[in-house]
Amino acid sequence: MSSPDLIRHLRGERLGRFPVWMMRQAGRYLPSYREIRSRHSFWEMVTSPEVAEAVSLLPVRELSVDAVILFSDILSLPYGLGLPIEMKEAVGPVVVNPLRKESDFSIFSDFLASRHTAFVGETLIRLRKSIAPSTTLIGFAGAPWTVGCYLIQGQGKNDFAEPVRWMREAPASLSQALGVYTEATQKYLEYQIDSGAQLVQLFDTWLPRMSVEYFSDYYVPQLNQIFQAVKKRGVPVIYFAKGITPFLDEFSRLEADVISIGSEIAMKDADERLKKRFSLQGNLDPESLFRSEAEVRLQTRRLVQEARELARPAIINLGHGILPPTKVENARAFIDEARALWI
Ligand code: CP3
Repeated sequence: MSSPDLIRHLRGERLGRFPVWMMRQAGRYLPSYREIRSRHSFWEMVTSPEVAEAVSLLPVRELSVDAVILFSDILSLPYGLGLPIEMKEAVGPVVVNPLRKESDFSIFSDFLASRHTAFVGETLIRLRKSIAPSTTLIGFAGAPWTVGCYLIQGQGKNDFAEPVRWMREAPASLSQALGVYTEATQKYLEYQIDSGAQLVQLFDTWLPRMSVEYFSDYYVPQLNQIFQAVKKRGVPVIYFAKGITPFLDEFSRLEADVISIGSEIAMKDADERLKKRFSLQGNLDPESLFRSEAEVRLQTRRLVQEARELARPAIINLGHGILPPTKVENARAFIDEARALWI
């Protein structure tokens, strides 16, 4: 059976155009999402394979994106293991009993993906049956640091003072704690691949709260442990982090296939700083989707032009997640324009 378009493109086969999808594409900017959401709690949606499948499929049905990302959350792993986590409107995730010491993380050594997150496996199996063979099925997990930020802080305050303090005061201890979570994440992604994910993305939204020194000394090996495990299964892996500029020199040690970059850096500059070692994904500013449709098309053409000049095959995406006030027509203009332009 031949591989889906985006995977063939990453391998260097000619599609004649760039593949495109959007981070957070199955979300609140879609009226169809809000309609389903009005009938279910967030976790009900995530843990019901039938509902999660339907929500995952909304963007491919409405926007013709090249990839379907599993509808879930970066906190589904701890939630599935039994940690009480609430999704609060206007606040975000709240971890009811924050993990504040190394031994608190030992719970993750009991993680068994097929038992605790069977809902994810079932959703992926269903999705593989319902999507076209040309469409890529993307699985994902939160990176240990970003999930750690929520688990340690508790209430989703975006300064994440508690994990940052732990990192500064006792980096080796934090690394031990996150190491246990790294193992669980590895098993979780392996399970997603065994259930049908053809590409996986690791989300590290709060990387800017980490010091470059901790990243270099403790974190790179943990990320690489995850990347190596995924690649052993023959699946490419995307690493997404926000605010990557200070980390770029260290990034060249990462064993990911694709680095997802934000709009704060130009594709070409990122390519050079990363020593042309990776495919790049990105990087239209999500706020530019608030402009007119003509402007969205113009910005997309500029982006595709930049992507044509990169060392390796790029994936067109936003620089980070699509914002809830975005008009669906503008999201559609971005996708259509990117798909219409020839390489
Ligand atoms: O990309 C997709 O459409 C797939 C689904 C997906 C969700 N969350 C669904 C979701 C993915 C890939 C995520 C990742 C995620 N979750 C990240 C990393 C990416 C990023 O945006 O930086 C983070 C930091 C989270 C944690 C999280 N979950 C937050 C901060 C929030 C609340 C704020 C928000 O974005 O709505 C959530 C809830 C959440 N996860 C929603 C969705 C669709 C909204 C829930 C609702 O309907 O109320």
